[in-house]
Amino acid sequence: MKRILLIVGGGIAAYKACELVRLIRKAGHSVTCVVTAGGQHFVTPMTLAALSENQVYTTLWDLKDEAEMGHIQLSRAADLVAVAPATADLLAKMAAGIADDLATTLLLATDKPVLAAPAMNVRMWQHAATQRNVATLRGDGVTVLEPDEGPMACGEFGPGRLPEPEAILRAIEAALAPSSGRLKGKHVLVTAGPTHEPIDPVRYIANRSSGKQGFAIAGALAALGARVTLIAGPVALPTPAGVERIDVETAREMAAAVDAALPADAAVMVAAVADWRTGDAAGQKIKKGDTAAPALTLVENPDILAGLAHSAHRPRLVIGFAAETERVVEHAIAKRARKGADWIVANDVSGDVMGGDANLVHLVTESGVESWERLAKADVARRLAERIADAL
Ligand SMILES: Cc1cc2nc3c(=O)[nH]c(=O)nc-3n(C[C@H](O)[C@H](O)[C@H](O)COP(=O)(O)O)c2cc1C
Repeated sequence: MKRILLIVGGGIAAYKACELVRLIRKAGHSVTCVVTAGGQHFVTPMTLAALSENQVYTTLWDLKDEAEMGHIQLSRAADLVAVAPATADLLAKMAAGIADDLATTLLLATDKPVLAAPAMNVRMWQHAATQRNVATLRGDGVTVLEPDEGPMACGEFGPGRLPEPEAILRAIEAALAPSSGRLKGKHVLVTAGPTHEPIDPVRYIANRSSGKQGFAIAGALAALGARVTLIAGPVALPTPAGVERIDVETAREMAAAVDAALPADAAVMVAAVADWRTGDAAGQKIKKGDTAAPALTLVENPDILAGLAHSAHRPRLVIGFAAETERVVEHAIAKRARKGADWIVANDVSGDVMGGDANLVHLVTESGVESWERLAKADVARRLAERIADAL
């Protein structure tokens, strides 16, 4: 028995949330509903309370519940938070991290898997803003279902219909049961983000890595049931559901954290580790003034990928990433041999890849080079996770 927190948004498809409540319970789970102000125009809290046999929550400003921080408890007591229907408005607020009512506040406060089933007019769904929000949410680890295609209440035709309640239930159960996934019992190490190499207590050398691709990979591996240790450089990204995260700052800290996290069945080294650090970082802030500009002496950082590939505890599958701005595949093939990695995922970062939501990658393995089409980072992550599952 799992506990589902169901958020019902303000769309015409809210009536189908009633059927979803019935199906979730029939499958042996419990449901607690939160209905937004918009949602209450389409379905009454009374209906949802009767069907769920649970209290229905509608407001953040409840003296009785909030005396015990009810919004935090609600979001933590659940095993999964489902949003159905997820309106364009709710998706936008979720993507932006807005928390201006009970539903959005507990979506921001939750540490549980979140699944959204969108429903809206086809133009609203296809609008660049909505598509951007969906990509952001997927990058953040939210499972956003594809809406169904067909005739709509508004008289138009196209994608935007709420998936059938049976399909939403199946997706909820799949999201709840990663332990039955293909990578069950496997430990995978993922590094992500940049490293910061201090110059003095206030200045550092960094690079443009956002961590998005590595975080998406960690999330995709966890979704397949792997135990994932994510070693993250300084990035402002939420931890994907089901992932154990270790934050580090410098390359040397990252190398030590990788070492400490072993043994692992596979390692995906996505982090953009600084090749060099300053010879000796100043203990105090370097003052501008009397002398000429200080010279930075750089020394080489440990090579984490090569170190891991040649270590006594080498994971069965070692995957490196190569960010290149020219002759991408050629460099990647050379890097694979030089580092002793099994696979190299090469990407051309001369455009807006760093920090962006899409990626164009080439997978270099012992059997050759596969060039993937331009994909959302979340899709690159899913495809790579499946390939890792095949290999293990
Ligand atoms: C009759 C009617 C039907 C609507 N259907 C939808 C819908 O299916 N999807 C959607 O995203 N917005 C729909 N809207 C607009 C939302 O109700 C509106 O954006 C609202 O602010 C969403 O509230 P929420 O954030 O509580 O979901 C509809 C509005 C009306 C008046």
